[in-house]
Amino acid sequence: MAYIGTTHGKIILMGEHSVVYGYPCLALPFFETKVIAETSTITKGQTLYCDFYKGDIQHLPTSMQGLKAVITESLKRLHKENAPLNITITSSIPIERGMGSSAAVAGAVVRSIYHYFDAKLDHNTLLSLIAISETLTHQKPSGIDALTTTSDKALYFIKDKKAQWIHVNLDAELLIVDTGILGKTKEAVHDVASNYHKASIQNALKTLGALTYEAKQAIEERSVETLGRLMTEAHHALQHLGVSSKELDHLVTIAQQYGALGSKLTGGGRGGCMIVLCRPNQKQSLIEALRPHANHIWSILSLIHI
Ligand code: MEV
Repeated sequence: MAYIGTTHGKIILMGEHSVVYGYPCLALPFFETKVIAETSTITKGQTLYCDFYKGDIQHLPTSMQGLKAVITESLKRLHKENAPLNITITSSIPIERGMGSSAAVAGAVVRSIYHYFDAKLDHNTLLSLIAISETLTHQKPSGIDALTTTSDKALYFIKDKKAQWIHVNLDAELLIVDTGILGKTKEAVHDVASNYHKASIQNALKTLGALTYEAKQAIEERSVETLGRLMTEAHHALQHLGVSSKELDHLVTIAQQYGALGSKLTGGGRGGCMIVLCRPNQKQSLIEALRPHANHIWSILSLIHI
């Protein structure tokens, strides 16, 4: 019998990077992409099967050391270090696109292991286990990926504080546009940290914090025009931080030319995805304009009742 754990992707609406420095962040669960992990019994050993690896957990490649550390720590906490088992991971979240793939995979695996051993798993324990892998991925995780990929509501989040669920009910749609280029979250987070001493970087982070706070108010007031304008302003602040790329900028320019309410990169940047806020009746023309420059486009059907 297989014991399943699931999580989903995440989209940062506002506040990536600045969230690492204590400013607020707005994030949405992205249910259209999912991770399913299944833990099952085998006669001996501990193995893992996914698209990138099939074999002994001890020999996972360097790029999967975060996941290995999460599995080891989960089994240790459950006093099942040597229990024979196989973990199979199936994911529709593209990797390194700013959609929280690494946190979601770690979260689904932890849920599945705890399920397999019929152990109670509270949310804080889950988040602390995911943090082990996220800290290895990049040293300064804010925790937003872990929280959003394991929660089913939109979040207003400030690092190390209790997150607030927010109710999103907007007459707008959100397109998620994948450049097809791997994002570089680790490198981007590292470069922002190395340049933190510069006033221009601190100002950009502060601006992102203020824009995110205003975006929360715009969501509460259901003002999609204001939210869109704030998103595009946030993209410019992220450009100042040095975390955009020419492909992301190009997609933002096209979206704005075709009348989007707003658009910006989402997640770690330097590749990965951008998002476009639009009126439902603009969606089709925007998709047609963006498609030739995109690897894939998803749409969050409507921002009603997240
Ligand atoms: C990555 O999805 C979001 C960043 O702000 C990093 C983090 O919050 O840990 C870039």
